[in-house]
Amino acid sequence: MLTLQENPLRVGLKQAKTPEPLILVIFGASGDLTQRKLVPALYQLKKERRLPPEMTIVGVARRDWSHDYFREQMKIGIEEFSDGIQQEELWSDFSEGLYYCSGNMNEAESYEKLNNFLRELDQKRGTRGNRVFYLAVSPKFFPPAIKQLGSAGMLKDPVKHRLVIEKPFGKDLSSAKILNRIVQEVCQEQQVYRIDHYLGKETVQNLMVFRFANAIFEPLWNRHYVDNVQITVAETVGVEDRAGYYETAGALRDMVQNHLFQLFCLTAMEAPNGVTADSIRGEKVKVLQSTSLADVKNLEQSAIRGQYSAGWMKGKEVPGYRDENNVDGNSTTATFVAMKLMIDNWRWQGVPFYLRTGKRLPKKVSEIAIQFKNVPLTIFPSAAQQANPNILALRIQPNEGISLRFEAKMPGAELRTRTVEIDFSYGSSFGMPTADAYHRLLLDCMLGDQTLFTRADEVEEAWRVINPALTAWDAPCDPLTVPLYEAGTWQPPEAELLLNRDGRRWRRL
Ligand code: BG6
Repeated sequence: MLTLQENPLRVGLKQAKTPEPLILVIFGASGDLTQRKLVPALYQLKKERRLPPEMTIVGVARRDWSHDYFREQMKIGIEEFSDGIQQEELWSDFSEGLYYCSGNMNEAESYEKLNNFLRELDQKRGTRGNRVFYLAVSPKFFPPAIKQLGSAGMLKDPVKHRLVIEKPFGKDLSSAKILNRIVQEVCQEQQVYRIDHYLGKETVQNLMVFRFANAIFEPLWNRHYVDNVQITVAETVGVEDRAGYYETAGALRDMVQNHLFQLFCLTAMEAPNGVTADSIRGEKVKVLQSTSLADVKNLEQSAIRGQYSAGWMKGKEVPGYRDENNVDGNSTTATFVAMKLMIDNWRWQGVPFYLRTGKRLPKKVSEIAIQFKNVPLTIFPSAAQQANPNILALRIQPNEGISLRFEAKMPGAELRTRTVEIDFSYGSSFGMPTADAYHRLLLDCMLGDQTLFTRADEVEEAWRVINPALTAWDAPCDPLTVPLYEAGTWQPPEAELLLNRDGRRWRRL
């Protein structure tokens, strides 16, 4: 057996390091992501003393803001979307490192101006030419921004310069390949951090620890014992004010290709050699390479889309998707997707992985359920075992934890069984809330650890898997052919059928 020091899983997962002095440049500084997530997460890191004293943040956007106005906006964000400022002295120290530089993402002069400003800041703040460029902008700006950063020489140092790209990375396989090529022309893969915030969630990282730091689950984790796997990411929110983006994305691009596939890969992949970025990412790519939709020729047997119609959520009437602001009245965009994936490898041959996600569903819940095979013969008079196979449920959010469902004898003279659960809850076991995903991801990227970021080949493989559904659903069609589900209900009937056809049903959540 390996000792604690030798075991890379134990040593590598969380190291209390501090990044080198650097400037983090956020493109899209006037946007929601910066105010709600990025700057509050950076301030939290500051509170925890995880940032170097020289840490400098430069917001870039088109608006003509002053440094002070930018600081005020960020302060509002921290107050509203996190634990708040709490210590005025700390805020004053943090805000001294906040700057703003207006610019147009398409114009070379803006990058020249920014570059000069960054050089000045290097002198003033001692940031030594280290830069992280974070593209928190609409995906249409990714190609021009990356090209301009490249032409301005701002990504030329493979050690000092890093590039963070938000999702979605491309809109299908061919555009993702083009975007990867644009990136590869100006920098090396080791400089690139493709974000999927699901990888920053503690419960998602725990998937690896659960599988590979415990000996008892591995022997069961395969086609001999597992009947099927169900991955659900359900949201109660509707499209909100994001129709401009969502109309062109839909649930397949917005959630499946990235967040659900990360959960899928971490559940299905083989054990990596260690916790190095490349060994983990290599295993994820391998599992994707063996994965396809269950029946590509009969798409309706393996991928179902749906769209919410008007309904009720928590006692309030809500409009259907087509009646939301800025949504086309005849939109065929999917707000729900269910699919059946098969993996062609020794471990998983014949085991279906059912994935589903949707907006305006009855509950916010993300879960991975491993459903085990039934016992070979029921010897007890109560038929409960037949109906209730063992289920291992990994609760990603909320109420983060893990439960195992099994049968037990009910007290009493009669031999009757009942389904019970063993439950582990993060909240009660560790007594502290799980940190926001961006907190971890920003820190890792500043430390130069790519483990929780998606590699070029991984993102392409994920697009390849869903490409048949994308192509079919992007084609113009009669809006009446898109299955509807009432807001506040779980799914369209077609999605039930996907499992019923296999003699199974979705787990009730
Ligand atoms: C984002 C999607 O990436 O993830 C949103 O664009 C979605 O549509 C969100 O609501 C869900 O994230 P979380 O962390 O709330 O599950």
